[in-house]
Formats: sequence, C-alpha cells, structure tokens
Amino acid sequence: MLQNRTDEFMTSRVIPVSSFDLVIFGATGDLARRKILPGLFHRFTVGQMPEGGRIIGSARSELSVDEYRQTIRDALSEFAPEAANKPQQVREFLDRLDYISVDAAGETGWDTLAAALRPDVVRAFYLSVGPSLFGPISRQLRNHGIAAKDSRVVVEKPFGHDLQTARALNAELRECFEEHQIYRIDHYLGKETVQNLMALRFANALFEPLWNSQHIDHVQITVAENLGVAGRGEYYDESGAMRDMVQNHLMQLLCLTAMEPPSRFEPGSVRDEKLKVIRALDPVSSSDLVRGQYRAGGDQGSYVDQAGNPDSSTESFVAMKVHVSNWRWAGTPFYLRTGKRLRERLSEIAIIFRDPPHSIFPKMQSRRGNALIIRLQPDEGITLRMTIKDPGPGGMRLTEVPLDMTFAEALGEGAKSPDAYERLIMDVIRGDQTLFMRGDEVEAAWEWADPIITGWEEQRQKPSRYDAGSSGPEDALMLMHRDGRRWREIGD
Ligand code: BG6
Repeated sequence: MLQNRTDEFMTSRVIPVSSFDLVIFGATGDLARRKILPGLFHRFTVGQMPEGGRIIGSARSELSVDEYRQTIRDALSEFAPEAANKPQQVREFLDRLDYISVDAAGETGWDTLAAALRPDVVRAFYLSVGPSLFGPISRQLRNHGIAAKDSRVVVEKPFGHDLQTARALNAELRECFEEHQIYRIDHYLGKETVQNLMALRFANALFEPLWNSQHIDHVQITVAENLGVAGRGEYYDESGAMRDMVQNHLMQLLCLTAMEPPSRFEPGSVRDEKLKVIRALDPVSSSDLVRGQYRAGGDQGSYVDQAGNPDSSTESFVAMKVHVSNWRWAGTPFYLRTGKRLRERLSEIAIIFRDPPHSIFPKMQSRRGNALIIRLQPDEGITLRMTIKDPGPGGMRLTEVPLDMTFAEALGEGAKSPDAYERLIMDVIRGDQTLFMRGDEVEAAWEWADPIITGWEEQRQKPSRYDAGSSGPEDALMLMHRDGRRWREIGD
C-alpha cells in the first residue's frame, strides 16, 4: 500500500469553484436521476459544492419544488446508496434544489427562469435532452438574455448521427455560444483510469521513450459489455456499435494512447494533440473491419429480438485494424473492438511490446512478451507483463508473471474513484474544458467514421452472428490471426 501519498503528487492546477447556478434541462429524465444528481450529491457530501452552489431542475412537467425534491430524494435512494446513511446531508442537498417548469420547444417558463437566476454567478446549462432540442433551448437562452458571455452549456452524446448532422449541431450551438462556452461530454474522459493514461504516459519517464513503433508491436483497445440492448433497442438500432461506441468512446481512448505529449495539461494543448491523431488515421479498408450481431443466449433474446426489428442489420459488435499514419506509429497497428453481450464487462488498453532484438535464451519464442495493460473497468489498475526465470534447478526456463497494481489496493480505501459524471460536472463549474470534446474533434471523428458506415450500408453487408457470452464473431479472431497475433482473452 502506498502510505505516503502527499499533496505534492496531487494535480498542480486547481481552479477554484465559485458560486454557480446550474440549470438542468431534462431534470426528471433518466440521466439526471441516474447520474447527474447523484454525482452532484456526492460532490456535496465531500464538501466540494460551494455555499453559493444552486441547482435548478427544469422540465416540461408542472411540478412544485417539493415534488421535484421528492423525485430526486427517490433517485438518490436508488442510485446513490450512500445517501441512506446521510439523511442530514440529503436534506441539505435537497435544499439547494429548485424547480422551474419550462417548455423547451415552446415559449412558456423562460421569463420565470430568467428571473430566478442570480446575476454575477457562473451560469451553466446542462442540456440533458435529445439533440433536436439543443438548438431551440440555446436560442431561448440567448433571446431571453439568460445566457451571459461566460455562461456554459453542456451537451451529451449522441452528438450527431454523421458528419453532416454533427456540423449542423455545432452550427446551432455556435449561433448562441462561443466554443469556449460549449462542453461536449464523452463520459469516458471522466473515467479515472482514462485520465490516468495521461498521468502514466506523461508524469513518468519510464514509458514514453518506448512509446512508439520501434518498441511497440501493436495496441489492443477493448470495450466489452455483457449486457445487451434490451430496454433501449429502438435508439440502438438506429445507431449500432460504430456510432454508439467507436466514433466517440474508443476514439477517445485511441487518441489518448497515440497522441504526442501536449505542451501543457490544458484544453487547447490536449485537444490539439487528440485532433492530430484523428486526422492521421488512415481510412479503414473493408478487409480490416468486422461487424457482428449477437444470437439469443440464456434467457435473453437475440439482438434482433431485443431491438424489436427482425430484419435489422445493425451491428452490436465491431472489430477493426486501424493505422495511425505518422512518424511515431508507422508499422504499429491499433486493433479496436467493442460489443454487447460478450463474455464479461471489461475495458482495457493493452500495449504489446516487441521482443528483444536478440535472444540469448532458448524457447524465447513461446513467450507472449512484455505487455502493459491499462484496465479501465472493472478493477481499475495497471499490469505489466514481465518475463522472469522459472524458479528451481533444471536450466534456464523462463516464465511470465504480472506486475499487478489495482488502484483501489495501492491507494487505499479512501481512494474510491468518483463517477465519471461527477468529475465532468465539476469541471464545467470550474470552467475547465480539457476533458471535453471540441467541435472540430467531433467533426473529424465523424469524417473518419462516416465512410466505414456508408460502406456497410452500400454493400448491404449483414453482420456476422456471434454467441451471447462469447468473445465475438470468428472473423474478429481471424483479423488478428492473419497478422500472426491474437486478442487478449476477454475475462482472461
Ligand atoms: C454509452 C453507450 O455511451 O456508453 C452505451 O450509449 C454503453 O451503449 C455505455 O453501454 C458504456 O459506458 P460504461 O461507462 O458503462 O462503460
């Protein structure tokens, strides 16, 4: 256990949180109840919400403030288990909540909202609503003088369905807000281990000299889920794994793994470097792409059953080989895969190193070689796979062992990772855009993803079927085998 964790290791850049009015549109919706309000409650309990921090829920329903507080009290019991032991803090937190009924697509409620906001405090507007309302709400905020020059607006994915729709959304937001006011959430950037990837690379001298194609054979990025699409089949069937996961979450993981060191940990530098990675991606040829759809398994239906669309050819799994065409990565492919109803819920980035240039030991070839595994979930941590001597007499036999570190164990009980949303909402209040996607970044990611999706549509390609609870379709295994490589087991 690391006992002497001192403040000198803590982040060097702390932006003080000032008083704020945070308005949540869609305040009775699933995301608000499941993530946003529980996240804010947790920040409140650890003393990170200033005295002047106020939350104003807003939705079309005509609710009294008391009724809204009751809705959120119920949400906390369901989604913030620690609330049960903190009744006093729950009461104090609920006192911070207000509710104003506003018709997001219409005219009612805006004047009341305008009158309720305080002058001279940070204003943030969280649009926890469908993208079709981003434009209408932004215009009302501008037309009623509710959004000030330093106000912030937060939007969620899906940020567009393709390049064209993403551009249109950007244009609608920029009609009313400047880019420095717009916070596009990709919740993967709020995950502790994703941020840790940057700490690992740029706060240690150990890895960066090896972080290139001379020393790295290939990289595997896996985001596997064991759940299917039941309950959200209608949304998912319009989207598929490529739009739902690859264009955004896996793209962000790829960027943070492949980017050049930014000159500072600040929004401009970090986002410039990520953008350069996206722009360096080669188009992906159809032979380097696999798409799959899960079969029925256990007591659960197949993808098409759960999506409610018997003819669906939407993919619930994607695997691909990607080339980052630049000096650092030429000759080192990145293999990405993500899917639903796989063996386990597991997200990791695996950096697979090349073999030593010359072997003085027999049977070196049978080893898998050095690998650095960065586990995002579950059990966030890092493993370095090393080769050592197998103990005992009988010659020089080699074996592989993991040098394993689970963050929870290494950092102690107090180091519970905050939920991704907690971190991101507080960054909005602090005015720190580092972990949010810039407009040009989102557009560049669509520009890369669009030809893949339209290629599938034009070829009317059906996805390969895979068994629920497996590692995905056979073709995905072949994608690696033909290069003389293999995927790490999901759940190994
Ligand atoms: C969401 C996708 O953005 O991310 C979901 O829409 C997916 O389909 C989810 O399940 C995965 O997030 P996490 O944090 O559970 O890995």
